[in-house]
Amino acid sequence: MAHRFLSSTNRSSTRFAFIFTVSLSCTYLCYTILFCRGTVMSNQAYEGRRCSPSKNAGGKKLLGKLENCASPGVRSVVEEPAARRGPSEVSEPSGAPGGPAGGQWADVKFRNMSVAQRYGDKKLPNALIVGVKKGGTRAVLEFIRIHPDVRALGTEPHFFDRNYDRGLDWYRGLMPRTLDSQITLEKTPSYFVTREAPRRISSMSRETKLIVVVRNPVTRAISDYTQTLSKKPDIPAFDQLAFKNRSLGVVDASWNAIRIGMYALHLDNWLQHFRLSQMHFVSGERLITDPAGEMGRVQDFLGLKRIITDKHFYFNRTKGFPCLKKPESSGQPRCLGKSKGRTHVQIEREVIEQLQEFYRPFNVKFFETVGQDFKWD
Ligand SMILES: *[C@@H]1O[C@H](CO)[C@@H](O)[C@H](O)[C@H]1NC(C)=O
Ligand SMILES: *[C@@H]1O[C@H](CO)[C@@H](O)[C@H](O)[C@H]1NC(C)=O
Ligand SMILES: *[C@@H]1O[C@H](CO)[C@@H](O)[C@H](O)[C@H]1NC(C)=O
Repeated sequence: MAHRFLSSTNRSSTRFAFIFTVSLSCTYLCYTILFCRGTVMSNQAYEGRRCSPSKNAGGKKLLGKLENCASPGVRSVVEEPAARRGPSEVSEPSGAPGGPAGGQWADVKFRNMSVAQRYGDKKLPNALIVGVKKGGTRAVLEFIRIHPDVRALGTEPHFFDRNYDRGLDWYRGLMPRTLDSQITLEKTPSYFVTREAPRRISSMSRETKLIVVVRNPVTRAISDYTQTLSKKPDIPAFDQLAFKNRSLGVVDASWNAIRIGMYALHLDNWLQHFRLSQMHFVSGERLITDPAGEMGRVQDFLGLKRIITDKHFYFNRTKGFPCLKKPESSGQPRCLGKSKGRTHVQIEREVIEQLQEFYRPFNVKFFETVGQDFKWD
């Protein structure tokens, strides 16, 4: 009897356990369904917020949707290769107040970039930073490549001066993958003073956009000499190289450090092959005092939306140079390398004045030709 009672209790408790399990499963199932819908809806709300001003039209719509509206889950996957791009990556901390220059853009960029890396094609550059050496070309390259619609080669390919024999396919192969909407860019400062470069570039494409970063030719020459001196400490003093006869004030225009700064001469050569409107001149001086202003004009010239603004920069007083901000998550801000903005060797006041004299007619002609006064006096 006792045995029977037990077994019947056992049976009903088994039944109870079964019903309990089933109802628990049901609850769980319902909960899961509801929860998922909730998540989906909140994701849609999230995406809607981030992606509402979709600028993609026509055939690009699908791809655009994929890039701009990837769900957070997708994003964490695709952000990785972007992060690997290294120290040149700069963006505002996400959630930064204000307009499109904030974290949103950075996120969109990361997604765009990784899409480009996977699906884009290698293309010949549509824009080149062609000079000048010691003008601030590295800074312009590092600043402009924050822009989501710019993909730049980090190294100097020297194609139109040293490697032209390797052919355009070799050159194209060096380029980063880009989407149709993105600009491919490289910089090689020696192009500006290379006789054959303008012709070669125009035979690649007559529509190539050319950026020249210029700077007071005297300061440029001293900076150039300082760089050489740091590699070869045995070279003669600056004034021995700069003059054929210093007491007569005869400058040695065949010395490269002097020759590069005769901008008007080199520019003539470029204007044999390009319209002036295809060239943009960045002031190396203003690039330091007002990087956002200079980069605003570079973006306009390249037909880009002004995304790089003063929010991206801060001024490092020790270095005397603007640096790029980094998002909180990735530590160090991006300043240019140690060699940039190094202190120049001291040059006698008299030597500087003699060189100013030497350059004056070239400067005047240069200002007239480009229709801008860079104020180098
Ligand atoms: C991302 O790429 C799409 C398609 O290439 C482009 O239309 C869009 O403007 C890009 N987004 C940004 C922020 O540049
Ligand atoms: C520079 O010119 C002066 C005057 O003509 C001359 O006496 C001197 O020898 C010259 N110096 C050099 C290094 O040629
Ligand atoms: C400023 O530059 C100096 C010298 O290069 C560097 O040691 C320092 O960390 C920089 N400070 C900031 C805040 O970037």
